[in-house]
Amino acid sequence: MPESSDLYKQAKAVLDMNDRGAYTQPAHGLYPHQWLWDSCFIAIGLRHLDTERAKLELTSLLRGQWHNGMLPNIVFRPDPQYRTDRNMWRSWLNPSAPNDLATTGITQPPMLAEAVVQVGAKLSRTERRSWYRLMYPSLVSYHEWLYRERDPHNEGLVLQVHPWETGLDNTPPWMAELHEHQLAWWIRLIEKFRLEWVIDLFRRDTRSVPADERFSAVESAAMFTIQLRLRRKAYDIDKILDHSMFAIEDLAFNSIFIRANARLREIAKSLDKQLPEELLQQMKKTDKAFEDLWDPYSSQYYSRDFITHKLLKTPSIATLLPLYAGSIAKERAGQLVKMLENKHLFGSAYPVPSVPTSSFWFHPKRYWQGPSWVNTNWLVIDGLRRYGFIEHAEALSESTLEMVTRSGCYEYFDPLTGEPAGAGNFSWTAALAIDLLKTDKIK
Ligand code: GLC
Repeated sequence: MPESSDLYKQAKAVLDMNDRGAYTQPAHGLYPHQWLWDSCFIAIGLRHLDTERAKLELTSLLRGQWHNGMLPNIVFRPDPQYRTDRNMWRSWLNPSAPNDLATTGITQPPMLAEAVVQVGAKLSRTERRSWYRLMYPSLVSYHEWLYRERDPHNEGLVLQVHPWETGLDNTPPWMAELHEHQLAWWIRLIEKFRLEWVIDLFRRDTRSVPADERFSAVESAAMFTIQLRLRRKAYDIDKILDHSMFAIEDLAFNSIFIRANARLREIAKSLDKQLPEELLQQMKKTDKAFEDLWDPYSSQYYSRDFITHKLLKTPSIATLLPLYAGSIAKERAGQLVKMLENKHLFGSAYPVPSVPTSSFWFHPKRYWQGPSWVNTNWLVIDGLRRYGFIEHAEALSESTLEMVTRSGCYEYFDPLTGEPAGAGNFSWTAALAIDLLKTDKIK
């Protein structure tokens, strides 16, 4: 029985330790607020322990929903000690922001519909109906917002305006673009004269985690300047896109969006509701437009620059996420599975590295530039199962659990040695370990 395993007990203890009443913080110290996709992954684990708490985790996210439908990537705690965090964003500058609490002005991958269905699977038929009924309007308005504001040319793909929106913060395709277009003159000077230590004086993340496991100082300063620009534009998308060189149709985000659309259609169907016709048409377009991200020369998908329409040909963990999207042809899914098996790409001893191990960008402990993360493993496992690669799915689930059993519920892991890195007692690692332990071998 999984309940008696040490890992299960340990993971449950992490979720209890990080319980903040209305939601679960990702980790003590470094991440005290409520994060969007974290809460979705956390609810997927919590549903095995306490369905009421899992539901609360998700309804709490709706506190932060903007009047225009946007779900922000962070809902800030109201305590006086977090005033600086709230002030960094000043969500109140935008008239659509909630009146009674502070959030960021950007979103994160749309995992909510998936989490709603996963929690629903643990409820009785009647409970599930009322659960779906409760969440449905917010989900519809979130997806409508994504199309309205993030697909301005009606292309079918949605764009992101900050690397934080992908959840894969310093992922190479974005960092390469950032180095090219987004380094302010003062950051270039700092880089040239090797004055990175000046930036480090202002950083808080490196107080909790060793500096070589996080962003570089230059990347961190650049992220901050992009954020300041968004704030200056009061998070108004038209103003943001005007004269901007930095908007990307991110592969990971759009893969997750495709699955979220399918999940939303399931929810509507089980409620006997008809989704708005326009939304249905847009969803269809997305499945088709996604294929434009395929590069026949290297046989893989990439993110695309929204402005130039050029594919950003730097592989990363996003490369494998079309498996999770579920809309791609089985033959293409098979090509991605080959990359997963290849030792020089994603087939490391403790998969799945967030960057191919042979990549110029690869660093085994640097955040989204090498380490294995349990949430992206979960997405790949789920996709493999649905495409019928059952043995691959089981093998990945086992190696993920082995890594967490050996090293603990850390934020990420060295894909070569399985050693832990980043924050300890990390909530989504705990929650998804529980889900992997509990999930039937064959769905
Ligand atoms: C980091 C991760 C992001 C996550 C957040 C809170 O910023 O890159 O994906 O949501 O931490 O855990």
